[in-house]
Amino acid sequence: MDATRRISNLALIGFMGTGKSSVGRLVADQLRFTFLDTDDVLVSRAGKPITEIFAQEGEAAFRQKECALVQELALRTRTVIATGGGLPVNPANLASLKTHALVMCLWASPEKIWERVRGQNHRPLLNDPDALAKLRALLEAREPFYRQADVLVNTEMRSLREVAHQVIHQYRLATSAHR
Ligand code: S3P
Repeated sequence: MDATRRISNLALIGFMGTGKSSVGRLVADQLRFTFLDTDDVLVSRAGKPITEIFAQEGEAAFRQKECALVQELALRTRTVIATGGGLPVNPANLASLKTHALVMCLWASPEKIWERVRGQNHRPLLNDPDALAKLRALLEAREPFYRQADVLVNTEMRSLREVAHQVIHQYRLATSAHR
């Protein structure tokens, strides 16, 4: 890692259903960091759920709000940031996060993700007649972006607690090496 980076936050990126929010909360608790979920902030600012933001304003408007929020995050310290699944697809977002956060990607196969998200309906991109095919295509297109994380954590065959433990371990390794 670039020794000039000043890591004061931990950002979790990854596809929908990889556990970013659940793991992020556990990690924040244990590190005594603040927890912030970019989707939650955008929903509370807009005063409506993500499905409605997408339906009424379009995906591009959502991405703009997301990008503006990412810029604000540079001011934070001791925060675990769980990001929306599409956020790192904008290179400016990933670059901005990397200036202040260790970026960790939670990974899972499409089959595992499908097991976790099927039956949920709060994600507009998966409200599709063939949601599994959509999921596979999106994940494949996004893989190159997710792979730009500092650390990749496989969440398959691991409980949320085990993933959180691994995330904390990697964060401590990275931050102690650069103090
Ligand atoms: C999206 C993922 C969602 C949310 C929005 C778009 C995506 O967040 O930001 O529905 O493009 O993958 P989660 O990854 O928290 O589900």
